[in-house]
Amino acid sequence: MEKIVIEGCHSLSGTISIGGAKNSAVALIPAALLADGECLIDNVPNITDRDALFDIVKHLNGDIVQNGKEIKINSQNLNNILISEELSVRLRASYYFMGVLLGKYKHVEMYFPGGCNIGSRPIDLHLKGFEALGAKVTKKGHKYILDAKDLHGADITLDFASVGATINIMFAASLAKGTTTIHNAAKEVEIINIMDFLNNMGAKITGAGTDTIVICGVEKLHGANIKVIPDRIEAGTYILVGALLGDNLKVEGIIKEHNEALFAKLKQMGVNYKFVDDGVILNKVEKLKPVDVKTLVYPGFPTDLGQPMSVLLTQAEGVSKMEETIWENRVGHYPYLIKMGAKIEVEGVKATIYGKSPLKGTEIHATDLRAGAALILAGLIAEGTTTIYDIDYILRGYENIIHKLSNVGAKIKIEKI
Ligand code: UD1
Repeated sequence: MEKIVIEGCHSLSGTISIGGAKNSAVALIPAALLADGECLIDNVPNITDRDALFDIVKHLNGDIVQNGKEIKINSQNLNNILISEELSVRLRASYYFMGVLLGKYKHVEMYFPGGCNIGSRPIDLHLKGFEALGAKVTKKGHKYILDAKDLHGADITLDFASVGATINIMFAASLAKGTTTIHNAAKEVEIINIMDFLNNMGAKITGAGTDTIVICGVEKLHGANIKVIPDRIEAGTYILVGALLGDNLKVEGIIKEHNEALFAKLKQMGVNYKFVDDGVILNKVEKLKPVDVKTLVYPGFPTDLGQPMSVLLTQAEGVSKMEETIWENRVGHYPYLIKMGAKIEVEGVKATIYGKSPLKGTEIHATDLRAGAALILAGLIAEGTTTIYDIDYILRGYENIIHKLSNVGAKIKIEKI
């Protein structure tokens, strides 16, 4: 077991480069199994969620060759066998094997996916989508069996614009007979990355990035290449670091349009940022204005940045509000921020944050991935030493976070417990 130890209050200068998007990569890796030939995925982030997916691909007898950020996946000798609970609970995105294996083999057996405990995380919308395409879903305890004689196109309206359900239905529908239309589809930019990969394989999909996606099923998909887009959540996290501690801190390799909702709030607060080439340079300012933030589906303020954003709000002068609308449990970081000296009242998913409060280092626990990121931000601005436990959550989704932060002057290290 390991912990992160931070000595706070050091200003940060230099450049942080953004890696490939976790939420794209975790769908692109299973997607490669839809192809009959070899696929090459570039810019894959070095995160433990990637390794968990590799283990599932290898379990299914897929072949993976990794060369740094570039991976080749060949599914020529795939065995469509049960994905055990031990493998599937390691990450939420294991649910993508459902859509992929159902599409390719019309049969899949796997256990309910795991992931961070940020809410009840049902997969009913995925399953309803598969059923609409002609699959029979049987649940035995935690085990799901999906079976279809044939998959056929369907008109599917999602009750909620779920990212996972949208992508999973795209996977299965790519190899269904006829045309599928997903109404009220999620519009997240990662979905465009997935559509591009599938289309490179020979799929016929239009509309990703809008709320209506049309998939004309094809008989087979072939090997193809794709590059993972930059991680807008990792970018947003380091942009917030720059707002808190930047001394000409550059966050490079971003697509600024992907973080419009974040930049709009930062502008309102008076954060000093300037766009350059493919990056943004941030400088800490002494006075920040309070703002109200409500997380929403894309292009609204991302739920995955709500927790890190709440740390910036502790440093604004006045009363800010943070409301989480997607996940009911994304509040685990607040008690630790309060322990560090923040003045926050939490009522369900709504927090009222009274700034500006100096934070003090102490012992705290990451309760999920983005809560962990928030606590790192808090540790970086806190006086004294902050020790964060349960850091596995953080390493699931932030590649080389210790190295990236140390490189720009943060005093942060991982230690064995
Ligand atoms: C993805 C992201 C995650 C992000 C989330 C919302 C990945 C791997 N993860 O998660 O980082 O926080 O989008 O932007 O891409 N829901 C149902 N039934 C379902 C599916 C979802 O009720 O079948 C609900 C969920 O409980 C939640 C909301 O819909 O309240 C959003 O979930 P969804 O968009 O599906 O999130 P994920 O795809 O799991």
